[in-house]
This record gives sequence, structure tokens and C-alpha cells, in this order.
Amino acid sequence: MKKGIIHTYREYLPVTDQTPVISLQEGGTPLIHAKNLSAQLKSPLSVYLKCEGMNPSGSFKDRGMTLAVSKALEKGAKAVMCASTGNTSASAAAYAAKSGIKCVVIIPEGNIALGKLSQALVHGAQVISIKGNFDDALRIAREVTGGFPIELVNSINPYRIEGQKTGAFEICDQLGKAPDYHVLPVGNAGNITAYWKGYKEYRDKGRIKELPVMLGFQSAGAAPIVLGKVVKNPRTIATAIRIGNPAGWKQAEEARDESKGLIDSVTDDEIIEAYKLLAKSEGVFCEPASAAAVAGIIKKDREGYFGSERKTAVAVLTGHGLKDPDRAIGVSELPVSLAANVETIAQAIGF
Ligand code: F0G
Repeated sequence: MKKGIIHTYREYLPVTDQTPVISLQEGGTPLIHAKNLSAQLKSPLSVYLKCEGMNPSGSFKDRGMTLAVSKALEKGAKAVMCASTGNTSASAAAYAAKSGIKCVVIIPEGNIALGKLSQALVHGAQVISIKGNFDDALRIAREVTGGFPIELVNSINPYRIEGQKTGAFEICDQLGKAPDYHVLPVGNAGNITAYWKGYKEYRDKGRIKELPVMLGFQSAGAAPIVLGKVVKNPRTIATAIRIGNPAGWKQAEEARDESKGLIDSVTDDEIIEAYKLLAKSEGVFCEPASAAAVAGIIKKDREGYFGSERKTAVAVLTGHGLKDPDRAIGVSELPVSLAANVETIAQAIGF
């Protein structure tokens, strides 16, 4: 039974009997073997999909938000605030609604997916859209929360990282070991930081023997870590990771270097190819940013990176496809409109 990550992994988290636990039963997400995708690869790599879109608000953010909002409440905060490309705001709005505190979100105008915006609005958050990108929004959120008793719940809040590290614990519990490769999209670089911390803690506690190699992927038009410099005007169809100056830059590089991994980029075309492949041949509908992880696996496989030994990779599908219905429709064949009679329909389906 799903009980929420604070309950399940309490001994690994900074909570006490005084912490009011605000949970929507996040975590416990499926780890699905991607048989058809694995069969298409050159190397004998067994790919698993960690379906984080199955969390209560439809993304991995809920793992961090349950802890960040619980700790904010314990501290006596009256409000939480975040800058967001969409998912953080959806999650913050949901957990704030559950706990009865105010939630303010700052989003880049015109660059957040419809599903995510609808979530923040329906949960009753105050949504402020700015003429700027995510990096501008985060700068403003940091300054405002610095001056008032409002808790910042972006991933620079350490409780977000603590909660999100439970994704690594779960993968190890599900596989019985760490995967050889852990693959994920990188935006503000909180999640790669959290996963690496989680794997190291599980190793230190003797729960796993080996650590995975961390493979992070940015969008080619928003790839500051790959380029080694801030991207002033990040551009990508994967709006969730449209970030030019990630807050967790240094920690992401540490995860990459300590694990002997890499952070590379994938193009929007490669992202869409992976997005469609997951939907059409695995039955898994994720959002474009999430597909960047699988696009990365396909790219590295074509380059021969994975070699000829049997290995396992886990790709984190960070958000649900329904978050961004416009993109799904945009890359698909639209329905045909026909007369309501049996012969016409039978003819159209080839019978
Ligand atoms: N995938 C999705 C679906 C995301 O929403 C995000 C980040 C990432 C990947 C990247 O994770 O930032 O920890 O490296 N979304 C943030 C937001 C920025 O505001 O929702 P990261």
C-alpha cells in the first residue's frame, strides 16, 4: 500500500514527532521494464522506466514537496512560494491546499504547459506570470522570500532534495540493487543532486553495494552545464527544463564527476522521437522533458557508449504526458471526421 515517502523512509529523513506530515501518498511509483525500447537498442541494455508521473500531482516534485511543506508548517510559515516552469508550482499548490497555507507561484509568461497552469489555478494558488524566463522568476522568488516570512519551496530548499532522494531508494528497493546507469533530464539540477545523494546514502547504510553512473540530459537549446556557460535565452519545446542558469549547477557536476557519468544534450527532434516511441511502443505517456532521458539513452546507444556487456539503466520519466496536452496533439495525426454510418466507418478502418 502507498503510504507516502515520509512514512516509508522516515529513518532517512529529517522529521521528528513534532513534524506535521502533509502527504498526498506520493511515491511508490511503478518501475516498468521497457521491453520494446530495449530490444531496439544496439547494446544489450535493459531499460526500466521510473514513472514519476504517477505521483499525486503528476510529477516527481511531490516527493520533495511533501517534506518541504511539512517542514514549512513545522516552522510556522504562513505561506510558501516558488518559481516554476510548471510542475513545482502544481505540486506546491496541491500540498499548500492540503495544509491550508497560502501558495504563491511565479511563472514565465507563455512558457508553461496548460495542464500545469490549470493545476496551480484550481488548487487556489496565487499565480503571478512574469515577462521573463524561469531564471528571472527564481531570482525574484529568492529575493521576495528573503524579505518576508514566506518559505521558498524551490529545490534550493534542502528539504526538497531530502524528499526527492527517496526516488533512488525506491529504485534500489524495486530492482534489488542500484541500476548500472541512472538517466534523467536536467533543468534546475535539483533532481540529479537528490538522486545522487540518495544512492550514496543507501550505499553507506549497506542497502546497495554499487553506485550507478549518472547520465543527465539537457535540451540542446537550454544546455548551460554542457556548454559550461549560462544560456541567456534558453529555448526548447521541453518547457519544464527551459532553464539557462541552474541553481544546482555545481552539485550536478559533482554527481556527474563522482559517478564517472556525463551531462550531455539532446535536440528537440530527438526528444520528440523518444516521446512518441514511449507512447507508441511502451504505452507510457510522459511529458517532453521526461522523454529527454530516453532520447539520451538512444543517442548514447547510437554512439556505442553502453558497450557489449549486459547492463541495466533506469530512466526517470519525471512528469505525466497529460501535463502538456498541446504537445501531444501537435505531434499526432488528428482525428478524422466522418458521417455516422457503419459503412463509412468500416471503410475508414480498412474492413
Ligand atoms: N522534468 C520535469 C518534468 C520537470 O518539471 C523538471 C523541472 C525537470 C525534469 C528537471 O528537474 O530542475 O530538478 O533538474 N521542473 C522545475 C519546475 C524547474 O519548476 O517545475 P531539475
